[in-house]
Amino acid sequence: MKAVITSTAKYLPESVLSNHDLEKILDTSDEWIRTRTGICERRILKDPEQATAHMCSKVALQLIEKRGVSADEIDLIIVATMTPDMIFPSTACLVQKNIHASNAWAFDLSGACSGFIYALHTAAQFITAGTHKKVMVIGGEKMSAVMDYTDRTTSVLFGDGAAGVLIEPGTDENHGLLDAKLYSDGNGGDNLCMPGGGSLRPTTHETVAQKLHYLQQDGRQVFKSAVVAMADVAMELMTRNNLTAEDIDFLIPHQANHRIIQATAERMGIGLEHVTVNIDRYGNTSAATIPICLAELDETGKLHRGSNLILVSFGAGYTWGGIYLKWQ
Ligand code: UT7
Repeated sequence: MKAVITSTAKYLPESVLSNHDLEKILDTSDEWIRTRTGICERRILKDPEQATAHMCSKVALQLIEKRGVSADEIDLIIVATMTPDMIFPSTACLVQKNIHASNAWAFDLSGACSGFIYALHTAAQFITAGTHKKVMVIGGEKMSAVMDYTDRTTSVLFGDGAAGVLIEPGTDENHGLLDAKLYSDGNGGDNLCMPGGGSLRPTTHETVAQKLHYLQQDGRQVFKSAVVAMADVAMELMTRNNLTAEDIDFLIPHQANHRIIQATAERMGIGLEHVTVNIDRYGNTSAATIPICLAELDETGKLHRGSNLILVSFGAGYTWGGIYLKWQ
């Protein structure tokens, strides 16, 4: 029995932070950001009383409404995030409370930018085991909460948002989540991290003064690893599933840098018309990028029974991987 996606949804906060807005507070330029990353603007969740759980709950409510099921039919909620509302309780439990999913158990999964891919593969195991019938997988991030808006090397890259899917058992073996390959390499950990606020360096006046509560990245190092890893895993999935470039309807890559997306598509031999790109509008929303792209494809009616999709990601950890799915 394969897991199939039966509902998709996204939520982007209304407030737009454009490159021109950033030019006013940082030594940067619209031209630099656009040409080096592909980003023109990103969304920011402005209300200080709202965070990741708020956006994920909006997604969860849409998922059940679109599918026409009630919240108490949901068996499990997995939220992939590296910007939880709090370290505990989990953001998934906050979502479970907000949508009144009284029969669901819920947990967060920490896979950084690969969080959604990790969570989708994890969720599929509960479906294929036959123990769960309706599992929500949501990627959500309030990246603006961990940005140092005096650091031009990181703050121009990220934005806020959430999106997700509902998965259920499919009716045939040849449709749904057909293959996945996931990787981790902890040796890359120092190149992309938030050093403060955990049990190693609990928040103190000193950690705040040293700005350890903000995301830190060695962009060049991460770029070099991401560009190879994303293309390699996409090729691996193509090879072991006997897929040619012509077979792939859409590549749905993590949206960290337009140059990485292009390089991945080139290695796979597919044209950009078969690649989902929204980094120009939302920047890097970490675990939310892939489900946002998927929800946009679904909303615009571009997915048909039999459409072949490859999802690939790379993020902090390092974490990376890909999923091959055939739309049901
Ligand atoms: O989602 C998780 C995974 N993350 C990624 O995959 C991100 C991977 N990395 C990247 O996408 C790119 O490395 C960045 C977009 C972060 C940076 O692009 P780059 O082409 O690698 O630039 P760089 O770091 O090599 O910096 C080039 C120059 C530097 O100046 P100097 O040293 O050459 O004088 C930077 O100081 O660009 C400068 N710079 C900027 N200039 C204007 C860095 N950020 C900015 C900025 N505006 N915002």
